[in-house]
Amino acid sequence: MTTQTPLKYPVFDLKTRANPQAVYNQMRESDPIWCAHGPETGNPIWFFVDYEDVVAVLKDDKRFIKDARRLPREIAQRYINLDPDPVWDTINGHMLMRDAPDHTRLRRLVHKVFTPRAIQALLPRIEEIADNLLDQMAGQHTADLINAYTFPLPITVIAEMLGVESEKRDKFREWTNILLFSPDPTQNQTAAMEFVMYVNQLIEQREQEDTGDILSGLVRAEEEGDSLNRQELLSMVFLLLVAGHETTVNLMGNGMLTLMQNPQQFELLRQQPEWIDSAVEEMLRFNGPVETPTMRFALETVEYKGHVIKQGDLILPSLLGANRDPKVFEHPNTFDITRDPNPHVAFGMGVHYCVGAPLARLEAKIALSKLIARYPNMALNTAIDNLEWNGSLLIHGMKSLPITY
Ligand code: HEM
Repeated sequence: MTTQTPLKYPVFDLKTRANPQAVYNQMRESDPIWCAHGPETGNPIWFFVDYEDVVAVLKDDKRFIKDARRLPREIAQRYINLDPDPVWDTINGHMLMRDAPDHTRLRRLVHKVFTPRAIQALLPRIEEIADNLLDQMAGQHTADLINAYTFPLPITVIAEMLGVESEKRDKFREWTNILLFSPDPTQNQTAAMEFVMYVNQLIEQREQEDTGDILSGLVRAEEEGDSLNRQELLSMVFLLLVAGHETTVNLMGNGMLTLMQNPQQFELLRQQPEWIDSAVEEMLRFNGPVETPTMRFALETVEYKGHVIKQGDLILPSLLGANRDPKVFEHPNTFDITRDPNPHVAFGMGVHYCVGAPLARLEAKIALSKLIARYPNMALNTAIDNLEWNGSLLIHGMKSLPITY
């Protein structure tokens, strides 16, 4: 059944993507737990916007699960194609779509290579990439900040970590963009196939030779006789690539937009660059790049605060909503780079807490410090209403960010 009547809250509307927090703030007033019906499928979708409830969902991985295949067949087929398809199973088989015990074992293996020391060792290279990009911007006075800086930086870092050749990086952007945002199944299938074929080649090269990158580490990661099989490796690479750039790009893009809209805070950071760590946390809270995390399903019918969430219903805990909850954050709609404490949930919580959080923080800190030091007079080069936001309920970010500098 598809609902034709307009929804009480325009949460799926494209124009809501420019400022979804406003809709979540509205919802919080009277319906902090609200059930909508998906615009295309009619499936029940529960939005949670209060911090306490968002955290409760994220932590309850026994009842709110990721792997739709664990639901009864007639419910699961509302969400996924149950016929085996090697390419799709590879793209969707990563740990963000898995529950324990599979998830636990995949996560343990990725932690073997994604160590704090391995991330810290990337620092000089991140600095070099940032400097090179800033050099390329020199001599001009206008740019699209996303194209010129916030996109190429994290994609270069993650691509180098995974050993993707520089000629293939644009292709990667194309594939991940299609797989994340395109509604066209044929285009999706082709992109998935090309992606899998290419990454297969990379894995085969690493099996022959340890090149010292993260992919070589993943190929060799082993614990108690356990290792990643080929399909798991392919899915992991896909997840790391997508998670590793669509998010950090928008942390920096949304963060710089927010700074430009808050000149006093921008000035404070210019004058006292030592606030950068705290500023990045506030950017994550105030206008973070993940609006709602990936879908969760009720494994069984659950009663929560008087609401009956039926088996198989979808749950979307709004991270952007939780991060503006006045019960947790004083003056939640004020952007304050000195905020302390700042227990935001931009990286999620519980067993799926972001593996890449230390890398994202390091990249943002280096990239934004250097950008502000080099081009301190940067300003928005269009009216705020002209900014185009992508249509995804998952990734919150702009298609471009025109600036003068
Ligand atoms: C600002 C940047 C980032 C943000 C805001 C972010 C946010 C998140 C969130 C909210 C989740 C949990 C999703 C859920 O519970 O459904 C997550 C998971 C994950 N993120 Fe990130 N992420 C960022 C950057 C990165 C980077 C740079 C990487 C890796 C290179 C990465 C890798 C992952 C992985 C592998 C998971 C899955 C963890 C699991 O299922 O156990 N993320 N991220």
